Amino acid sequence: MLDPSTDEMRNWGNSVVQFMTDYLGDLRDRGVYRHMFSRAIRKRLDSTLPTGGADFDELLKVFREAIVPFSRHNAHPRMFGYVQSPGTALAAFADLLTSTLNANLTVWRSAPAPVELERLTIDWIRQILGFNAGAGGLFVSGGSMANLAAIAAARQAKGDLPGRLRIYASSETHFSIAKAATLLGIGRENVRHVAVDERFKIRTDDLVAKITADLEARYVPFCVIANAGTVNTGAIDPLSEIREIANRFGLWMHVDGSYGAFAVLAKSARGLFAGLEQADSIALDPHKWLYLPVDVGCVIYRAPEIAQATFAHDADYTRVIGEKADEAFAYWDYGPELSRRFRALKVWMLLKGVGLHSLGEAIEGNLACARHLESLVRASDDFEMVAPVGLSIFCFRHVPLHLRNQSPQAIDDFNERLLIALQRDGSSYLSNTTLGERFALRGCVLNYRTTLRDMEILLNDLRRVAKTLPTSV
Ligand SMILES: Cc1ncc(COP(=O)(O)O)c(C=O)c1O
Repeated sequence: MLDPSTDEMRNWGNSVVQFMTDYLGDLRDRGVYRHMFSRAIRKRLDSTLPTGGADFDELLKVFREAIVPFSRHNAHPRMFGYVQSPGTALAAFADLLTSTLNANLTVWRSAPAPVELERLTIDWIRQILGFNAGAGGLFVSGGSMANLAAIAAARQAKGDLPGRLRIYASSETHFSIAKAATLLGIGRENVRHVAVDERFKIRTDDLVAKITADLEARYVPFCVIANAGTVNTGAIDPLSEIREIANRFGLWMHVDGSYGAFAVLAKSARGLFAGLEQADSIALDPHKWLYLPVDVGCVIYRAPEIAQATFAHDADYTRVIGEKADEAFAYWDYGPELSRRFRALKVWMLLKGVGLHSLGEAIEGNLACARHLESLVRASDDFEMVAPVGLSIFCFRHVPLHLRNQSPQAIDDFNERLLIALQRDGSSYLSNTTLGERFALRGCVLNYRTTLRDMEILLNDLRRVAKTLPTSV
């Protein structure tokens, strides 16, 4: 098993590809999710510490029978929960090739062509976003790590000043920003939550008021986070205005585009991102709206030399000897990780294999699905929107006739029970959020397989499942 023959490898590969084509082939006919219990799953797994070996067919059988049926099917067209990409067959093959080559992209000499491919692919992303020619960055595990790396660079740019550092971000900002502040020793209490308007965008008057108050109290404002698609509602903060405020107060502007930024590829959304290219850094997630499987996030810095000043370390065991600039290039100088897998291969294969036009059309299709859902909800008498549709996220709730005159709390309770029942039913999958203290059903279309018809099925699923609920508890 450790070193199989070429025939064995071929047989394993054929079985895996057979599984993959069967699985992806009839995905739509399967439920998104089935209700399950931890103990039932554990019972199916042999828990004895393996001392001898098992053959490949046996391993694949466990995967097929004990793992797959007890997983949520993220590639399903009605998987609307969280911010979940479906993955693509192309990237699954790229991941196989990545692990086969097992390149470790620490420094140029360790993986010359893979490093070049990452630099090329990062430059394509830079161009997609419209960043300056000198901008650069790298792939990381996800948006959280990209946010962390960018905030570390922002702190470096501010230099050593006496006083507590402060970051500004709207109250709708993803929790990875507070986590980054904790990890970097800035402290989550020094992330100032700025108020949002009725469309859940940052209120720039409150941003300026908070910065001004902090300066008066001798804090050190150093960074403002602008959202290019919030996780709750898909809101895009006013990017150009934030740039102007950041300039006025000498702040680093970081854009969290983990969910939304690749929507610049869709014609109808491009205008919403004006000013994005002016940021000092941006976090993106190809494993969200480029449809790729986890894990691949990305951080781009306007001035990579600041990241280099943040992350570069000299150690005798990593010193690069006798190389010219390009061949001495070290990724460990630009981000937190040393060993790094060849994430660029799947991004490159997707961009090159699918092309920007088709990707833009797929994203456009996702936006259209969310807008279709919104128009169905607005035209109905038993659903209501809780927030305007931002990009491909929709927040709404079910208010059937018998609940019309009930308290907001009763409507919240009903929708909470409805969400659980919908997830257990398995035909469609939503997640939840709270907006203005009200519970909301929350969906995000992030799948090139999802159609307008799926949005209609979702509402019908909710109506059908709602009828099975007791009207009060
Ligand atoms: C806006 C936003 N930022 C950051 C993240 C964190 O990304 P990741 O899960 O890749 O770490 C998410 C995840 O959903 C997100 O939606």
